[in-house]
Parts: sequence; structure tokens; C-alpha cells
Amino acid sequence: MATAQQDILNRYSKVTVIGAGVIGASWTALFLAHGLSVVVNDPRPDVETIVRDYIRNNLSTLKELGLPTDNLEKKLSFEADLERSVAGADLVQENGPERIEFKQDLWARIGKVVDAHALMLSSSSAKTATEQALTMSRPERLLVGHPFNPPHLIPLVEVVPGEKTSPEAVNDAVAFYAALGKVPRVVRKEMPGFVANRLQRAIFRECCYLVIQGVVKVDELDDIVTSSRSVPLVPSRWRRGWVQIVLQAVRSGSQRGLEEHGVGQSG
Ligand SMILES: NC(=O)c1ccc[n+]([C@@H]2O[C@H](COP(=O)([O-])OP(=O)(O)OC[C@H]3O[C@@H](n4cnc5c(N)ncnc54)[C@H](O)[C@@H]3O)[C@@H](O)[C@H]2O)c1
Repeated sequence: MATAQQDILNRYSKVTVIGAGVIGASWTALFLAHGLSVVVNDPRPDVETIVRDYIRNNLSTLKELGLPTDNLEKKLSFEADLERSVAGADLVQENGPERIEFKQDLWARIGKVVDAHALMLSSSSAKTATEQALTMSRPERLLVGHPFNPPHLIPLVEVVPGEKTSPEAVNDAVAFYAALGKVPRVVRKEMPGFVANRLQRAIFRECCYLVIQGVVKVDELDDIVTSSRSVPLVPSRWRRGWVQIVLQAVRSGSQRGLEEHGVGQSG
């Protein structure tokens, strides 16, 4: 690893991962593979098994990414008490339930005990840093670092500052994610769905519309998307399989699915 990259990671050698579901477990594996110590905070009783299994099941992927995979769990620990889990942390990556009350309460508690230099990052797909930070004492170090599932594999991280996030925290977050080999991109204004999911949703809506209108069949649509000149712009999750599953749901007559994706509202 380049020295500059290692220097940045050295600044964040102690990380706390809050919530170890699909996103938190994946971040944990990636952080450990970059040599960071990780404390996991999650109240589910089987969290240790879930996370250890996740890491073991993804060792080959980490190896394919060129990352070390020996003794990854050496620097992994679990702490159910929130305040104790963030004591001494250089960075907190939050991946808990997508409820604003949960996130506001969490950051208010963390803000009271975390070291002043610590970076506080939320993986949230929809809750802005501004609203998450409403009741906390240290909003300048909090921002959204929105990954894509699974974070250890998908490069993009949308870095979305809140109204009170400091420019230094934005720079720190970008440097941190880049040092992990991610592709961090700063989103300049808080907007529901940020950028990538909005783009995917727009394509998704149009796919559904074209199939429902009889313009194209699902398989043909997959071929058109994956074989067209825009292929380099098409993330893997838009490729065969993903489009098919979603369209099958819509074709099965799910009115909720149609409404959720705005099909027929704008074409
Ligand atoms: N799933 C995705 O594709 C995706 C992609 C990008 C971002 N996100 C965001 O990541 C976050 C987590 O999503 P997920 O899909 O991993 O959810 P998940 O339901 O898989 O995981 C949430 C975890 O939080 C834990 N949790 C519950 N209460 C907690 C508490 N009080 N303290 C700590 N942990 C607690 C749960 O036990 C669970 O393990 C959400 O904010 C979501 O918007 C999800």
C-alpha cells in the first residue's frame, strides 16, 4: 500500500461499527482487511456469529480485491454498550435501522463521549446528516458516507455533508474512503436518494414503463441495456438479473410496486 494511503488509515486505526446487518458486516470486513481495529456495536444476541460468518464467507472476495485475509478477526471485538463501544474511536461508521429517531438519539449519545477528532459517518440511504445531527453536540464531524451493497465490493461512496458539517470533516471522509480503495464523491446538496439511487430509479422506472407498454420484452431490455454503448456507465446491479427480478414483481400486478416506482406517472 502507498505510504500516503497508509498514513491516512493510521489516523483512523480504531473504528467503531454501529449496526452489523448487511452493510455493517461488509464495512467491518473491509476495515479489518485494511488493518484497522474494529469494535462492533449491535444489540442482536447472535451478532458475533453473524459477523464472523460474514467475514469468513467473504475471504475469497477480499483476496480477489488484493487485500490481506490472514488473521482478520484478530483486531475484531464486540461491545454491546454504546458509550463504551465508541470510547477512543477515531471513526464511527453507523449502519443501524433507517429510523430518524434512532439515528438522532444515537448521535446525541455518541457526541457526548466521542473524542473531538473522531469522524462520524452514517451509511444512511435517505436520512440526511442535517436531520440526524439535530440534537447532537458535535455536528461538525458528522456526515453521510453512503455506500452501495456490499460496501466491501462496490466502489462508490456518496459523501454527503449536512448544514453544520465542517469542510475539514468532508475532506477527512473523502481521504479515508479513498485510502480504503473506494471511489468517494461529494454530493453538494442534501436531496432524498442522493445521486446514484435517483439515477438508478429513473432508469428502473423507464424499464418498467417500456415493458408494460409492450415496447420491449424483459430479456430484450436486458440485452439492450447491457449491450448498448452505455455499458461502461451501467453499474453491475442494473445488469441481467436485477432488471428481471424487479420487472417480474411489477408484471405480477403489484400495484404497490408500480406506485413505488412511479410507473405510468411520467413515462
Ligand atoms: N441494504 C442496503 O442496500 C443499503 C445500502 C446503502 C446504505 N444502507 C443503509 O445502511 C443502514 C443499515 O442498513 P442494512 O441494510 O444493513 O440494515 P440491516 O437491517 O441489515 O441491519 C441493521 C442492523 O442494526 C442493528 N441494530 C438495531 N438496533 C440497533 C441499535 N440500537 N444499536 C446498534 N445496532 C442496532 C440490527 O440488529 C441490524 O443488525 C441503513 O441506514 C440503510 O439506509 C443500506
